[in-house]
Amino acid sequence: MNRKYRKAVIAGNWKMNQTASGIRPFMDALKEELPQPRPCEIVLCTPAVMIPAMIRAGKDCKVAAGGQDVSKYEKGAYTGEISADQLADIGAKYCIVGHSERRQYHHEDDMLVNAKAKALLEKGITPIICVGESLEQREMDLTIEYIAYQVKAALYGISAQQLRRCIIAYEPIWAIGTGRTATAEQAQEVCEAIRGVIRKMYGARPARAVSILYGGSMNAKNAAELLAQPDIDGGLIGGASLKPADFAAIVKATNQ
Ligand code: 13P
Repeated sequence: MNRKYRKAVIAGNWKMNQTASGIRPFMDALKEELPQPRPCEIVLCTPAVMIPAMIRAGKDCKVAAGGQDVSKYEKGAYTGEISADQLADIGAKYCIVGHSERRQYHHEDDMLVNAKAKALLEKGITPIICVGESLEQREMDLTIEYIAYQVKAALYGISAQQLRRCIIAYEPIWAIGTGRTATAEQAQEVCEAIRGVIRKMYGARPARAVSILYGGSMNAKNAAELLAQPDIDGGLIGGASLKPADFAAIVKATNQ
């Protein structure tokens, strides 16, 4: 982390877990564990229907609410979709886009991820843009090229002004939910390369200011080492964000 130039962010991705009625007890337990003052920005990305409950419970807890996906369309006849405007209206401040699970199970491509990031920015929501390589791509030594392509495509047409409100999350697919974390060196190498791509696109200052998160089996034990890397500014946490004590321990690990 480099706190001189950018903010540290710990974001939880609850995926399709928990329920709205489970949020209050979760937040009460989390509040007990979180350090005061908060050492970083804390976000919990829940299923959209749970965002109002998260905002109510998170108010006195300084935890921001986020979504996990958004429609690329502004409004209209798109049954089942949720617009950026609708997310903003209920108070979501962040939203994940391009998560590998959406790319894999819902066939989202880089153009769609780009359109979704833009839709969020239009409504003042910070996109947490996910990129990450598969195990096959890593083994074929394609990681850096592939991630560079994903980052470029996701940021296409986004202005330097808008970039200041973007977060990039590097999530190697092989590390998600597998208990197999990237080593601190592997994660740093890719996060550094992502910053390099952004530098080429926008220049040194915007690149220095963008927060880049690592995600993929980050937990209470390995967080400190990952977060000690110069280009890793936080984490996007799946499984461990569902356990108040573990999530709080990761938040505490930013305090270094
Ligand atoms: P895990 O932390 O459960 O590996 O999930 C990571 C993730 O996909 C966060 O978006």
